[in-house]
Amino acid sequence: MTIRDSVQSTVDDCKLIDIRKYTDSRGYLSVIEGGNDIPFEIRRIYYLYMVPEASRGSHAHKELEQLMVATSGSLHVTMDDGLRKRTFVLDKPWKGLLVAPGLWRDLDNFSGGTVCMVLASERYNAEDYIRDYQEFLKYKGL
Ligand code: TYD
Repeated sequence: MTIRDSVQSTVDDCKLIDIRKYTDSRGYLSVIEGGNDIPFEIRRIYYLYMVPEASRGSHAHKELEQLMVATSGSLHVTMDDGLRKRTFVLDKPWKGLLVAPGLWRDLDNFSGGTVCMVLASERYNAEDYIRDYQEFLKYKGL
């Protein structure tokens, strides 16, 4: 993966999607195929759970694309492009947030028992993180 010096994405590049679901008398089943239901191939899956009241995130990814899903419970995800913020509520297992690269994110308001699953376009790479907000603004050319 090539890590670019700057990515000119905005919060409008993030969107909520309906994850397809199949329902019958046995209950619900949802499916996400990389490259089909979402615009990237899935190279990594991780999930957040047993989160106390404090928020998580507070970093940006330079290149990583993600789909975030509250498979159980609910949380708020605030995306920030340095100029504008948008808060998305994840509260259904069939609702996913497509997160564009080059944006700051904060995750908070976790309800008790929330499990937030994240599908990611790349394997873990510490070089892809920006953890300092001032550095993030510089990265965005602001
Ligand atoms: P971190 O990115 O700090 O969590 P948050 O998204 O809340 O900021 O990750 C916490 C720890 O987990 C950190 O030591 C790195 C490790 N980690 C991995 O090894 N692989 C991964 O895919 C992720 C997401 C984290």
